[in-house]
Amino acid sequence: MEESVRATFEVFYQVERAGAVRLSDGGGPFGFDITRALLVDDLLQVYRCDAVLETGCFLGDTTRYLAARYPDLPVYSCDIVPEHVEFTRRRLAAAGCQNALVSCSDSPALVETISQLYERPLIYLDAHWEDRWPLDAELAAIARGVVLVDDFDIGHARFSFDIYGGRPCDRSAFAVMPSPPARYWTPDPDASWPLPCLQVGRRGGTGITVIGLDAGPLDRHPALTGHDLVLEASA
Ligand SMILES: C[S@@+](CC[C@H](N)C(=O)[O-])C[C@H]1O[C@@H](n2cnc3c(N)ncnc32)[C@H](O)[C@@H]1O
Repeated sequence: MEESVRATFEVFYQVERAGAVRLSDGGGPFGFDITRALLVDDLLQVYRCDAVLETGCFLGDTTRYLAARYPDLPVYSCDIVPEHVEFTRRRLAAAGCQNALVSCSDSPALVETISQLYERPLIYLDAHWEDRWPLDAELAAIARGVVLVDDFDIGHARFSFDIYGGRPCDRSAFAVMPSPPARYWTPDPDASWPLPCLQVGRRGGTGITVIGLDAGPLDRHPALTGHDLVLEASA
């Protein structure tokens, strides 16, 4: 097994699924879907990312994973609920994760700060649940980065997605950006990964794009399917 895959495997399955108290997928890093962790690892490597940002830490399952898996990278997360932040901070401190910084903030503000501070941040957007859906403001705030949107409609029955006020989390999120990207990508549900996904319950889709960085690595990734935003809109 390739060294990076082994490292992902070992860290991923050592993270407790604290989010099970509320998350419909039972919690765990990236909704307990290791193929998403493998995709993130590929993207961090190919883009030589200099920081990782997650929005919406809840109880820190994904934050804990990212901080332990990438001890040499700064890992940022936030939540708008103070109790979630406090729990996640304590959890990371108990695990000795000194590279993680968790703030109690509204996610678009942190996205704006971090995406301006770093050259090639990986940004994982997972803030949901409150009355106000922050996704549009988060996307509008990104100066540059590799962007993954959680619970995105990838057009496959096995993968769930969010709906807020009747609006699905789908390509429209990218289309309404002030400067929409030309393309976005979704994981191919039939792609072969070096490790199987052990999530037998809910799996969420992921929408991926890049802002201010070369899109070539996404087009060349064997497990991603590219979509042309402009062509889809006029179809
Ligand atoms: C689905 S949970 C996140 C799960 C977490 N990423 C994980 O992998 O375990 C969504 C979280 O987003 C938080 N949230 C909602 N709106 C937010 C906002 N505007 N800014 C920051 N966090 C927000 C919620 O409080 C909740 O904890």
